Amino acid sequence: MVQGGITTLFEAFLKKETLFSDKKALQSSYTPETIPHRDNQIKQMADILATSLRLEKPSNLFIYGKTGTGKTLVAKYTTNKILEISKQKNIPIDVFYLNCKLKKIADTEYRLIAQLARELGRPIPPTGLPTDEVYRLFIDVLDKEKKIVILVLDEIDQLVKKTGDEILYNFTRINEDLKNTQISIIGISNDLVFTDNLDPRVKSSLSEEEVVFPPYNALQIQDILKQRSKIAFKEGMLEEGVIEKCSAYAAREHGDARRALELLRVAGEIAERKGASKVKMKHIDEAEEKIEKDRILDIVITQPKQFQSTLYAILNICLKKNGTIFTGEVYEVYKGVCSRIGLHPLTQRRVSDIIAELDMHGIINAKVISKGRYGRTREISLSIPNSNLPKIKNALEEGLDLS
Ligand SMILES: Nc1ncnc2c1ncn2[C@@H]1O[C@H](COP(=O)(O)OP(=O)(O)O)[C@@H](O)[C@H]1O
Ligand SMILES: [Mg+2]
Repeated sequence: MVQGGITTLFEAFLKKETLFSDKKALQSSYTPETIPHRDNQIKQMADILATSLRLEKPSNLFIYGKTGTGKTLVAKYTTNKILEISKQKNIPIDVFYLNCKLKKIADTEYRLIAQLARELGRPIPPTGLPTDEVYRLFIDVLDKEKKIVILVLDEIDQLVKKTGDEILYNFTRINEDLKNTQISIIGISNDLVFTDNLDPRVKSSLSEEEVVFPPYNALQIQDILKQRSKIAFKEGMLEEGVIEKCSAYAAREHGDARRALELLRVAGEIAERKGASKVKMKHIDEAEEKIEKDRILDIVITQPKQFQSTLYAILNICLKKNGTIFTGEVYEVYKGVCSRIGLHPLTQRRVSDIIAELDMHGIINAKVISKGRYGRTREISLSIPNSNLPKIKNALEEGLDLS
């Protein structure tokens, strides 16, 4: 009986109309055929990289812009095009793409070089050799024949955060050790001030050329969404205004195409699960709420215990008391939490920094107010929707072993 029921459930599922025709088109890894509103950046990159077709080393290039502005997409697109031509015309050009956010590949200089050597066909054990030796092996295999190598280091700010900037210094000098090959680096960063903290020598050689990716405006995001939704949804599955609303939401903070695509995808999934005949405006609001909930939960789960304890203190005060609360109150409750879980309490100053960080993540609202000669304090209120509180409280209690 139960088993027959499951078969019926699956059959009913299969018969159910789906709104999507190819959901992959809304994923951020999908490569669209054309890239609207980035002609300028593509052209700049192409001009810089074109010299490699004459076997001259292109200038190093630094690409920056906020998340979701098409940097990864355009970098892959342009380097793929140059590879295509080079294959057709038998010009020895190699492109290596590495996302430095990847764990186990780019957390140490050793691992990164070993990975590149591996891609060039020279296996290197995952640990054990001195770094100098790893470099030597890498240079050997890199320099085997005359060619141009373009190395794309995506999210390069993450690499420097993990390993320091010496690795970039070494990379920008590598050509001095090469006789045949010439290597050119494309660094990509979401962090707009990343180069400010680099060693000036690294900074100037990494950004011989720069290409900026400005945020999209709402109209540009509409074009991107239209292009992708044509592939992703069956015809007529979007209520009028849905694209415009998604775009407006995504453009509200900064024009982030990734966020817009995610919003549309989640709205589609919600509509489908609810058995709606179309994606409607209200599904976008629901999608926005879901994404925001997931985002905050994600932050809460991954933060260190001090951060969690501070938030837990704020949450508890807010659940008991209406209106705004102050840093001093939070600090008292926070100390209580610490003693319950055996955590060494930080100074009020440090907790105040954590409060500022919580504000930055959009979890609370903390306004600094002056109390004259008594110094300054923060007026704090929660900015998480009430419906989200129980889940977050649970997550914190689990994280802090309070449950
Ligand atoms: N101009 C564009 N046209 C079509 N899709 C775009 C465009 N810009 C960004 N996207 C899409 O938005 C998402 C985020 O782009 P991505 O290149 O990963 O951004 P970044 O690397 O700047 O964070 C990807 O799914 C990408 O395909
Ligand atoms: Mg990217």
